[in-house]
Amino acid sequence: MAPGPNHISHASAVRLQRPVLDAQVHAEMRLPRAPVSAFDVAMQKIIAITDIHITRADQDIIGLDPLERFEQVRDAALIDHSDAVAMVLMGDLTHHGLPEQYDRLRGALSDVPMPVIPMLGNHDRRDAFLAAFPEAPQTPQGHIQSVMDLPHHRIIALDTLDGPPYPKGHHLGRLCPARMDWLRAALDGAAGRIPLVFTHHPPFATGIVGMDLINLTEGAALIDLLAATPGTHLFCGHIHRTISGSSRGVPWTMFKSPCHQGVLDLTDPNSSLSIDEPPAYGLLLLAPDGVVAHSEDVGINAPVYEDTGSATH
Ligand SMILES: [Fe+2]
Repeated sequence: MAPGPNHISHASAVRLQRPVLDAQVHAEMRLPRAPVSAFDVAMQKIIAITDIHITRADQDIIGLDPLERFEQVRDAALIDHSDAVAMVLMGDLTHHGLPEQYDRLRGALSDVPMPVIPMLGNHDRRDAFLAAFPEAPQTPQGHIQSVMDLPHHRIIALDTLDGPPYPKGHHLGRLCPARMDWLRAALDGAAGRIPLVFTHHPPFATGIVGMDLINLTEGAALIDLLAATPGTHLFCGHIHRTISGSSRGVPWTMFKSPCHQGVLDLTDPNSSLSIDEPPAYGLLLLAPDGVVAHSEDVGINAPVYEDTGSATH
């Protein structure tokens, strides 16, 4: 099965109100400067933001305002990287999956000048999401999944939300057979491009027990599939921490949230442990032969110094 109806071109991902400049226009607008390396010339950027958790206006999360924190991260990312070719939102867009929460998020995305790829997490609800984002790509079964092709990479965004019906009180992720078949076709159709696969739920254990108890149910099958396509890189959310590693040869990267962060607790089964650490976003640099993943904390306002005592100076 080919990923047809929800195969999105670079120019046709979810766009929000304002006319959008494409990557070519942005490239022409950059100030001229001497190239540093072949990598510098060739790279494209992807902004990756996960676990936004928008609440109602009268709600906070551990004393934090998720909308305010997202706007802070959005602005920081766009100031430095308005030339990114896409912004991927890696699930848990809202805290309770309520229509007004998606409306608040949509408003916060109205001035984002590049295609936005929205994904769903365990805190989301498909109907409410689609009411606010009716143009979002869907599979024939109604899952919010999409493919975006770039010159050297294929971005594959998956939907790991279990339901409907939504199991009350459980937050495990699912990739049903239809979603796995869709992914298999998307990987097969990469045509030599490097697959960059995005899921909300990680398909592996992180050692953070509380979150490992609610990871992806079909994790082993997903790793099997990704391992069969060498060169694939997997990006996940859900844990609210910056973590990297590999599973059976598949490299993966996870990012912090703009809002509340996870705790490095390897024993407590409580999945709701959170900490107020700086908000952050991910920045992917796409080289012709791979990908570099950065995680950038926001709002620290630490000054930059030159270490004049270094032996290299
Ligand atoms: Fe989350």
